[in-house]
Amino acid sequence: MKRKDLTSLAALSPEEIALILDTADSFKEVSARDIKKVPALRGKTVVNLFFEPSTRTRTSFELAAKRLSADVINFSPSSSSVVKGETLLDTARNIEAMQADVIVLRHAAAGAAESLARAVRSSVINGGDGWHEHPTQALLDLFTLREKKLEFAGLTVAIVGDIAHSRVARSNICALHKLGAEVRVVGPPTMMPLQVERLGAKVYYQLDEALADTDVIMMLRLQLERQGRALFPSIREYSRLYGLTGERVKLAKPGVVIMHPGPINRGVEIAPEVADSLSSVILDQVANGVAVRMAVLYLLCGGSKKELMIE
Ligand code: CP
Repeated sequence: MKRKDLTSLAALSPEEIALILDTADSFKEVSARDIKKVPALRGKTVVNLFFEPSTRTRTSFELAAKRLSADVINFSPSSSSVVKGETLLDTARNIEAMQADVIVLRHAAAGAAESLARAVRSSVINGGDGWHEHPTQALLDLFTLREKKLEFAGLTVAIVGDIAHSRVARSNICALHKLGAEVRVVGPPTMMPLQVERLGAKVYYQLDEALADTDVIMMLRLQLERQGRALFPSIREYSRLYGLTGERVKLAKPGVVIMHPGPINRGVEIAPEVADSLSSVILDQVANGVAVRMAVLYLLCGGSKKELMIE
């Protein structure tokens, strides 16, 4: 891959997406071995720089880097000189001075990863920037759908919930539209971004209508921490109108695949029996996150699909 950074899905071509998914395919079996380690990134250093909480993204980047034999530093802003006023840019420049090859950044500000990528020589991977994008989440979602033998062209995907505050929605709309899927977004008008149609999505406000004949349902968490003011009368009302129940799943195509990037709020956007049903691939998404992030780290560090070091 000819790029230094991965800051958005919007920037990737369909060929680059395919390269990442194919490389992830090759890395997936490493995690099933007794000794889950290959030498592909021996001598490289990956720094996880997470300014917002994370379970899946941070852990899977750490596992991915370690399984590739890279050295990994998990930088915690709350116990760093950030609390003394050091800026993101100065923090990153100091990390770069210690010869970090890759910085994985999660930050509350949209555009933070792109700004950092322009300022440092290290590769920068966007681990989620505010409301903007979460490219590796969309890539692992694509990988999971492909693993289920679904063709992107002609696929109908409903993305449900707090679209406005969701970086996962933005990256997925962009990726799925680019690959030829029909993307429906559904949620309350107060949680629908302006001009979302321009990203290639069809807008719905009634969940039952949006679910008709869908192949994939992607549920989203209410991002209460980003909303700032009440966008809905009550959680109970939201759940009644936009929560995915077993009855609602029946409106979609038989064999529908149910996804959620996590963390899930059981009983709010998704009923527990749906989250744990055979249609749900939520934990497959998590497992695939490691393989996809191995692929992204490997390719950004100059690795090639032809010369994979997986022995
Ligand atoms: N999907 C996701 O980004 O989860 P985390 O916030 O736990 O990383």
